[in-house]
Order: sequence, then structure tokens, then C-alpha cells
Amino acid sequence: IWNAYQVMVTFNLSRSASFFESGVGRGMGFRDSNQDLLGFVQMAPARARERLLDLAATQLENGGAYHQYQPLTKRGNDAVGSGFNDDPLWLVLAATAYLKETGDWSILSEPVVYENRPGTEQPLAEHLQRSMQYTLDRLGPHGLPLIGRADWNDCLNLNCFSETPGESFQTTENRGEGKIAESVFIAGQFVLAAKEMAGIAEQAAGGKPHPATSDLQPAAYYMQLAQQMEAAVRAHGWDGAWFLRAYDAFGGKVGSAECDEGRIFIEPQGMCVMAGIGLEDGLAEQALASVQGHLATEHGVVLLQPAYTHYRVHLGEITSYPPGYKENASIFCHTNPWIMIGEAMLGHGEEALNTYHRICPSVRAAISDVHRCEPYVYAQTIAGKDAPTHGEAKNSWLTGTAAWNYAAITQWILGIRASHDGLRVAPAIPASWSGFTASRLFRGVTYHIDVRRAGPGNRVALTVDGQPVAGDVVPLPRAGVGEVRVAVEVGR
Ligand code: BGC
Repeated sequence: IWNAYQVMVTFNLSRSASFFESGVGRGMGFRDSNQDLLGFVQMAPARARERLLDLAATQLENGGAYHQYQPLTKRGNDAVGSGFNDDPLWLVLAATAYLKETGDWSILSEPVVYENRPGTEQPLAEHLQRSMQYTLDRLGPHGLPLIGRADWNDCLNLNCFSETPGESFQTTENRGEGKIAESVFIAGQFVLAAKEMAGIAEQAAGGKPHPATSDLQPAAYYMQLAQQMEAAVRAHGWDGAWFLRAYDAFGGKVGSAECDEGRIFIEPQGMCVMAGIGLEDGLAEQALASVQGHLATEHGVVLLQPAYTHYRVHLGEITSYPPGYKENASIFCHTNPWIMIGEAMLGHGEEALNTYHRICPSVRAAISDVHRCEPYVYAQTIAGKDAPTHGEAKNSWLTGTAAWNYAAITQWILGIRASHDGLRVAPAIPASWSGFTASRLFRGVTYHIDVRRAGPGNRVALTVDGQPVAGDVVPLPRAGVGEVRVAVEVGR
């Protein structure tokens, strides 16, 4: 209940009104709000629809995005501007979540302006297409996406080179043209987004329904983009035992075994595995084993190791924090669910749940004297192992952890997730669980789900209203049906 409540609060407020954040100054983050929607969409789809259209209306014509917009005017925030090159791709992921949840294809043909300018209306489908093109127009020397100001990690500023203490890394002009520094994180995110675009285009080709889908390329086009980017990641983004984090403005590696500090980062491991890179040939398995080996602690998984011990002008704000805090090797909780999802995708229910338990507020209530934060909401960070206060949480409430964690536990560990074709039930629960029951409202129908373990492993056998169904997707019932009973045997 509290996780869902926190999802709703972050959806409503983003990071714009909080004692911990800088109040109105933060506005509604473009990437933050899109991610908040990933956990919120099933609670109030109509509000999610409105939010998606608001976000898309702040998009720039070149496919880029204002990093933030103001909730009252719904206009992009000029003071912070754009150039965070992961931003546009989050719109694709959020729109896909909405489509899977609702099957409301009409949203793709909604006319939406760019930069709030009347007369610039294009269907939402075209906005999504431009989000993809934005990355393609900004590839670096290795064929990986240029990072711009920063990617998900606002504090990895590879083009900023700030020499002035106190200067804002978010707004100080980048020095140099930014044509070298690349992000493996965005590469993984692009692969994921391209696959989702292919899924949308495929549905459209299969007759699903909407004129605006003609603004999309065919599914094969997006699959080819995904394959090309995956090839670039394999050739230049794999460090031997984990995914590299980035290339800096001099073409040097960030997050590599060759580095003296910051050898391994969590973000590209989570994102590349979620994108499906290396699921078949062991890279994903290896990347997550490296996460467990180098980054996992009893209080959660830290963002990087070893922590940076001094300021490095070519890496930016991340190196300005004391070791173990914030982006410099704290347990930045937002990223932990990516590892849970990756573990679940690999069928590792035990590891997924274990990672969940380490940051779960109610589990941590047993160590409140260490955790020192409300025992019912996620905090942005928990101090990492390099910090003197290891295990102490900071900045509760407004964090993307809420939505991602809700998605990780409900959609991946319990395995109940929306798909274009129906409700998927594919749990990755620990061997020791004998099962669970859940009920889920999906497209106006209540699904009563009873999961029982029949043996080891994660294979499922579904029975829907007494009839066996092949695969793990419960087909959409005929119109007028209000309730569906799903019996699931796991490990058969
Ligand atoms: C921001 C996020 C960002 C994260 C990591 C948070 O404060 O709201 O947009 O991804 O920090 O830098």
C-alpha cells in the first residue's frame, strides 16, 4: 500500500515541492515524470494519458527535451534548458507502458505541439519517432550515443569542466562541442526503446488500430536499430566482466577495470540487461554477477566502486561528493530495482527478492537505528560502504525508486505485467515460495490470480477460467466479461 501511495505522490509532485529538493526550482523533471508514470499508469490511466501529452508538448522539434517544466505553466524551464541526452527516450518507454496498460491506441494520433508553440502540432507517434531520431543524430566515435550534459546520472558531467566552486553543473555551459563523450547507459536505453517501438509498429501492422501509426517506421526498421546499437555496445561498451559506463571527452574509459577509481557502475549493468543485451550468451549473467560481487552490500547495491576520492574536472559533480554519498557510491535506491528486474529476467528469483529486501523500508524497520528514516517510504539514497554512516537513508519521499520498485516487485518478481496482447503472468519468485495470490484490474477486467509452485524453475502453465492456455499471456477476454480466474503453476 505504502509503495503505491509513494508512487502516486511522486507522480503528483515529481521533485518540485520538497524539503529535500530545491522546491519550485526543480519543476517537473522530464525523465523523472516519465519514469514515475511507469509505476503509476495502472492506478489512474486517464491521468497518465494527460501527463504523457503534457510532457510531449514540452518536447523540442529536434526530438530533444527540456529537462524540466513548471507544473503551473506546463512550459519548459529555460533556466535549466535541455541536452540531457537520455531524456527523450524516457518518453518512448512511458508511452509504451501506457499503451500496454490501456490498449488506447488513439493516444498515438493525438496532435501535440512542440515547445508549447501553437501551430507545431504533430501526432504523438511522430514525437516518439523524433525521440529515437534525436539519439541517432547524436552518435559518437564508437557509434554509441553522445552523453550531452549528462544521462540518468545528472552528476556525471563529461563535457562541463567546471573549475569554479559552487557553480551549478546543471546550468554551467558545457565547454567543448560534446562530440566525443558517449554513454553506454543511453545505448542500453536506446536498445530497449527501439524494441518497444518495434512492438508498437508490429501491433499497428497487425491491424491494431490507428492512422497515426503511419507516422512510425515498420517494426523491422526499429529492430535493426536495436541490433546496430547492441553491436556497438558489444564492440565498445563491454569491459570484459561488466558493461562500461561511458567514454569521457578525451575518449578515455569511465567505469572500466583500467580506471583507478570508478571502475564499475551500476547503471549500464541494469539498463543493458533490461534491454535484453547478452541474455542468451552469458554477458547479462556476467554483468549481474559483477554487480553482486563488487557493488552489493547488506544495505543495498552501491552506484559505483571504488568511490572517487578527489574532484576530477573531466567527470564533474559526481566526484565532488564525499565517498559513499549521493551519486559518488551511495546506494542510490532508484537504480536497485533495475538489478532486481535484471535478476528476474535471468530467472533468479532469489537474488531479485534479496535485492528488494535490502532497500525495502518495512524490512529495514528492524534496523531503524541505522536506517534513520521513515519505515514506510523509500529514500533517494542510503549511505554506501565508503561512508561513515553506511546504511543511513537520506531524502525520503520524492524519488524514482518508488515507481521502479513497484514495477520490479509487481511486474517482474510477482511477474504480473501488461503486454499489448493481454496480461502476462511470469513470476520469478524464490524456490522457497510455495506461491501467492493477487488480484489485478487490467483494462476494466479483474483478474484473480492464484500462483502455486509445482516444482523448481520458472516455467509457467496457465489455466484461464478452467481452460489451459499456452504461453504466459492471458488473452484478452471477450467484451462484457468482468472477472477472470487465472491458475498458474510455476516450475512445471
Ligand atoms: C534526479 C534524477 C536523476 C538522479 C540521478 C535525481 O535527483 O531527480 O533525474 O536521474 O538524481 O542523478
